[in-house]
Amino acid sequence: MSRADDFERQGFLVLPDFVPAASCDALKARAEELVAGFQPETISIFTTHEQTRTSDEYFLSSGDRIRFFFEEGAFNKDGSLRQDKALSINKLGHAMHDLDPRFDAFSRTPELAALATELGLKQPLLLQSMYIFKQPYIGGEVNSHQDSTFLYTDPPTCLGFWFALEDATLENGCLWALPGGHTLGLKKRFVRAPGGGTAFQVLDATPLPQEGFVPLEVKKGTLVVLHGLLPHKSGANTSPRSRHAYSVHLIDGAASYPEDNWLRRSPEMPARGF
Ligand code: FE2
Repeated sequence: MSRADDFERQGFLVLPDFVPAASCDALKARAEELVAGFQPETISIFTTHEQTRTSDEYFLSSGDRIRFFFEEGAFNKDGSLRQDKALSINKLGHAMHDLDPRFDAFSRTPELAALATELGLKQPLLLQSMYIFKQPYIGGEVNSHQDSTFLYTDPPTCLGFWFALEDATLENGCLWALPGGHTLGLKKRFVRAPGGGTAFQVLDATPLPQEGFVPLEVKKGTLVVLHGLLPHKSGANTSPRSRHAYSVHLIDGAASYPEDNWLRRSPEMPARGF
């Protein structure tokens, strides 16, 4: 059975040894360099709970920039950091793949271009990237969601490439996926609200299933491919080891990209292909 058949059936693929360890290490080093050079003038606490995302201009204007988002548990009551800056960042987003040469090279390879085509994208565009730190002890959980909620096209075409830059285990917060769950349809969209800020637009009020998720414990260098409609989540990191991962989300340029999507890119920097 081909990769495309597996993907069609279960909504995700696990491809071990897709990236050499040296490339993982180089990307980690670059991310750490970016964090070391960052002066936290603007603080944005990132969670998937709607109230903190709403009206956060730092987040909303990050679509074509490199920005830094903190863990929820990173701060003391007085607003000071509980751990070193380098151990307090939740993620970087959302255009490293276009703005940073090392992320660009990691994200645009012939192997990934071939995979995107094999999985059905006619005109693959690299829309958005995230570097996720999942820090020791404070790395927060990510609630069950579908990526097409946040990266919507009509029809939905979002395809996620998630790279384990370190071993991902149950203890340090590996991904969990719902096999076959991509057939359940899209539940909601995260949009710009007409009066400013953001909102969830409900497309189907039936909740996502809570049961049936399987853990994806994977080794460093593994590529996990996620269908944009596949429900997935990840646990908190309760261990002393970080769980760095990098993800790139693609869409099909042949589909339409609605203007009310939260993520916007300036006309000078449209999403590009491989
Ligand atoms: Fe996701």
